[in-house]
Amino acid sequence: MKALVLSGGAGTRLRPITHTSAKQLVPVANKPVLFYGLEAIAEAGITEVGIVVGDTAEEIRAAVGDGSELGIEVTYIPQEAPLGLAHAVLIAEDFLGEDDFVMYLGDNFIVGGISGLVDEFRADRPDAQILLTQVSNPKAFGVAELDEHGKVIGLEEKPAHPKSDLALVGVYLFTPAIHEAVRSIEPSWRGELEITHAIQWLIERDLHVRSTTIYGYWKDTGNVTDMLEVNRTVLETLEPALDGEVDEASEIIGRVQIHQTAKVSGSRIVGPAIIGPGAVINDSYVGPFTSISENCRIEDAEVEYSILLKDSSIVGVRRVEASLIGRNVEITPAPRVPAAHRLVIGDYSKVQISS
Ligand code: DAU
Repeated sequence: MKALVLSGGAGTRLRPITHTSAKQLVPVANKPVLFYGLEAIAEAGITEVGIVVGDTAEEIRAAVGDGSELGIEVTYIPQEAPLGLAHAVLIAEDFLGEDDFVMYLGDNFIVGGISGLVDEFRADRPDAQILLTQVSNPKAFGVAELDEHGKVIGLEEKPAHPKSDLALVGVYLFTPAIHEAVRSIEPSWRGELEITHAIQWLIERDLHVRSTTIYGYWKDTGNVTDMLEVNRTVLETLEPALDGEVDEASEIIGRVQIHQTAKVSGSRIVGPAIIGPGAVINDSYVGPFTSISENCRIEDAEVEYSILLKDSSIVGVRRVEASLIGRNVEITPAPRVPAAHRLVIGDYSKVQISS
């Protein structure tokens, strides 16, 4: 069995971060979200992994390399434009050959891995297997319709009038039957070859499409709110480790990981929080659910429930909250407005000035 991981696409909902970098590489607890998926694949015993890449190919290659550090063997599959999830399968046909495969969307996050699911698929080998979960906003996803026996009878991509609240999770298991389906479908109204249409094509030909509903934790990390939520969940399971330099005047409370090359002085850190390599925290407060990446500087500032990408600084600002901060960002206080007001006001005026 092989894996096909989708790491192309544009990432419009995470702009401006994704103007300059891949959304799959935004870190969760200081590790790119894509790595959690690749680790889950390795854990399920799959070593041959094709990664579909687009405009951000160079960055993905630089981060993942040949995959050996993760225990996998990576083949990169360039996609000329984000033409759809089924298009990604189409261009991966040579890599996939006649093997069964798991397709994993590189920006999806599932707690608990995929080993159980892969084992179940290997044992029964339906033509395709999809994962579903209940969501409150089905319009934002692919949505499944099930009959009274729980059999999938229809799938729609981002429907205006969803037939259920069961969204497709970004992990799919396929036999080679999917190849004919992706060759047979037409682009959707949004100009993409949709994997939902390809699976619908299988259903209409009476092939066996099995669904499993998951009740655990799943997120599509496509937007900032979800990204911060995933970061929160992962930090809750962090192994505390105070390896860095922490001075006497600092107070560290709860689940906190401080990298051995990080320095904390005169500060209070309330976990769960992670402080990356080379980071400097000085005279500051770092609150719960905060991930601070390598070489960041927090000085005379307060930050919580946030993710900072590498080489950024917050100096003299309180309080930064629920924020996703890119790389090489500098946050400083705005210059003070002048303390005096100079006025020329007519008789009998009423003026309200906030001061
Ligand atoms: O997250 C689950 C949802 O993922 C499903 O419910 C939907 O049915 C499915 O279509 C998909 O919807 P999204 O709109 O979230 O897909 P997105 O465009 O964000 O792409 C998902 C991943 O695949 C992302 O890592 C980028 C990558 N991708 C996407 C396209 C369209 C590619 O590598 N190539 C592509 O052509």
